[in-house]
Amino acid sequence: MARRAAELRAAGHDIVDLTLGEPDFAAPSHVADAAIEAARGPLGYTPSNGMPALRGAARQAVARNRGLDYADAEVAVGCGAKQVIFNAFLTTIEPGDEVIIPAPYWASYPDMVRLCGGRPVIIPCPMVEGFRLSPSALAAAVTPRTRWVVLNAPGNPSGTLYDYAQMTALAEVLRLHPHVLVMSDEIYAPIRYAAEPYVSIAAVAIDLRDRILLVDGVSKAYAMTGWRVGWGFGPQALIARITAVEGQNCTQTATLSQIAAIAALDGPQDVLAERNTVYRERRDAGVAVLAGSSALTVPVPEGAFYLFPRLNGSADDVAVADRLLEAGVATVPGSAFGAPGHLRLSFATGTASLEEGCRRIVAALGEQACPAPSFWPFYPLSA
Ligand SMILES: Cc1ncc(COP(=O)(O)O)c(C=O)c1O
Repeated sequence: MARRAAELRAAGHDIVDLTLGEPDFAAPSHVADAAIEAARGPLGYTPSNGMPALRGAARQAVARNRGLDYADAEVAVGCGAKQVIFNAFLTTIEPGDEVIIPAPYWASYPDMVRLCGGRPVIIPCPMVEGFRLSPSALAAAVTPRTRWVVLNAPGNPSGTLYDYAQMTALAEVLRLHPHVLVMSDEIYAPIRYAAEPYVSIAAVAIDLRDRILLVDGVSKAYAMTGWRVGWGFGPQALIARITAVEGQNCTQTATLSQIAAIAALDGPQDVLAERNTVYRERRDAGVAVLAGSSALTVPVPEGAFYLFPRLNGSADDVAVADRLLEAGVATVPGSAFGAPGHLRLSFATGTASLEEGCRRIVAALGEQACPAPSFWPFYPLSA
């Protein structure tokens, strides 16, 4: 949808693009300064698990944000959180192994699992249950072939968080299945809209620590998606294997990017709260406009920067997203995230453009619940 939106724009159409999964901010200015300075000097190879200073900065950050203490041998840096997750799957999944993925999910998880020879086991987590994985659904999905369960909070696309009790209940189930590893993708953790402290399964279930890979990075929090720096904290043996894959794959993430990430982690952190305030205002502005359509139910996300409204009735989200593109607003159908009947709208975009995009959605969907898919023909855009 992002590509189609860009093509239409290039052809002169007025399209508001709400598809993007990355902040519209620049990296903090002290990050750019550190990178510019470093670029003037030699930039050689670093260890495959990252520069010692970056591993140290990441360890300090997780101690600061989650109260977790990891040793140096328990952290590995990669080219974004994505590569850390991929490396972990690659080094642990045997053909036919199952990976439990709650839906809605970040679209990459199932594809990564398949690429590594595994079988994604998707558990639908409906809006009425807050898009959360329930302990009973988790228990029912575990088999002897289960290798991993993926947890992602705040979730992309749902923005959902787990509170202490909910996370504890999931940990109880996991205790019964010692062969299951936990991929805790916490990349959006700093982008939250409530005052409560962040609940990581690694902090809630200290006894499960040797089975948890906690994944984090600078992409979302510090608006550094293109720098490609992420890391994982986990048991030493798993971290060693992730590092071995990294070493024979791309050697390391770019040295310049690692230096920039150190500046982000060690520098002033006010930028996180400042940007959360902006995201929150945008979230509320988007929700307020979308509330004008009875065709939508709009949950208010607790974190990340996506709205994930439900199309009331039995609407086909792919057809509706096509129709909305004709109406001048690009969204991503929920089917892409394993949740048909929803749309994902990114509010990592300017407030005026977000509000305009939401107005177009309300105008296009009208007051009525969306009719069934067959009533949504694709009209080619007029020139
Ligand atoms: C849930 C989730 N995890 C991980 C990533 C990847 O992060 P990175 O850019 O650090 O690879 C994304 C990016 O969209 C994401 O949404």
